[in-house]
Amino acid sequence: MADLEVLRDAAVLIEGSRFSWVGPRSDAPKAGANVVEVSGVLFPGFVDCHTHAVFGAPRLDDQERRALGVDYKAIAAAGGGILQSVRDVRSRPEDELEALTRSRLSGLIAHGATTIEVKSGYGLELESELKQLRVIRRLADALPATLIPTFLGAHEVPPEYRGNRAAYVQLVCEVMIPTVAREGLARCCDVFCEPGVFSASESRQILTAASRHGLAVKLHADELEGSGGAELAAELGALSADHLAAVSDAGIKALAASATVAVLLPATMIFLGKRTQAPARRLIEAGAAVALATDYNPGTSPTTSLPLVMALGVSQLGLRHAEVVTAVTINAAAALGLATDRGQIAAGCVADLVVAAVDDWREVAYWMGADVVSAVWTAGSACPV
Ligand code: NIG
Ligand code: FE
Repeated sequence: MADLEVLRDAAVLIEGSRFSWVGPRSDAPKAGANVVEVSGVLFPGFVDCHTHAVFGAPRLDDQERRALGVDYKAIAAAGGGILQSVRDVRSRPEDELEALTRSRLSGLIAHGATTIEVKSGYGLELESELKQLRVIRRLADALPATLIPTFLGAHEVPPEYRGNRAAYVQLVCEVMIPTVAREGLARCCDVFCEPGVFSASESRQILTAASRHGLAVKLHADELEGSGGAELAAELGALSADHLAAVSDAGIKALAASATVAVLLPATMIFLGKRTQAPARRLIEAGAAVALATDYNPGTSPTTSLPLVMALGVSQLGLRHAEVVTAVTINAAAALGLATDRGQIAAGCVADLVVAAVDDWREVAYWMGADVVSAVWTAGSACPV
């Protein structure tokens, strides 16, 4: 992960929507009609492999309650938490949700995300989950970034199933997953596997159903308390196991021995006021592939900035500059099953590029919270940012 190839005075050739050549400018084949001069540092387009970008209002009261020491369960009992966003999303018309999500995704793109995974999970009933996924599909057509839709119907047990969680799991497996798959509305399926939310055995049941319906699987694993989520993700051949702040030694070993990417979300732990972070160095030293993402959502990570997350990767997770670049490019692409296509400036890959207005490439993970991204291209075309 620390092995980056850094070229000076480089040139990049694009044909159609893909790179056709990259190398020293002096060796560049004769260019065609469109030559764009860029100063600064050109990165592969960043990949944000974990977001919950379809939501209604921000959850400001949760933030203040937490600051005053109120815990997760008490916040939920006071009407906050995930279920507050669920009531909100259920009540909003699709067009309104689309307009809100459009401007939020534009924020992610402006900070350099050219491929963005977007989860549902604030509907928790068939029609509201489909509404979120349709919003993602409409915006995938309208926005310049590539959006990867993930079905997260198992984000929480909805209030109407609180006394009968098995029936909700059954609904997810037997009605929601088949419908989402049949309508082609999601590429992946995710579950919030956490004590008090979905157990490892419920998660296995749901992800097994998802695989049977042709969806790739991902898992919110070992976020606050360990419950074997990382081991389960590795066992199921998941694309990624995400969060991992409470991953066990066995979980680290299982990830290291698998192709499942460890997706770490340092902004979430910071926003929640936690003093701990996922054991990034131990994961890397064990041989796991680590990616970073924003976890953009209204409850625990309201940031649209991957460069900020990169800075936190260095300061909070103990990663090197080169490692955080790998973590938001090719490794994040791998967490979406796109490692051969995205996350590198290499002939044959999709021509997604980010320009950072800095002198030294390491500065992208240094100017914490600044707008370092000055231009973005997706599939060979400049995006308005
Ligand atoms: O990734 N962990 C579960 N889901 C989100 C939180 C979502 C919310 O609070 O609305 C997360 O942190
Ligand atoms: Fe999340």
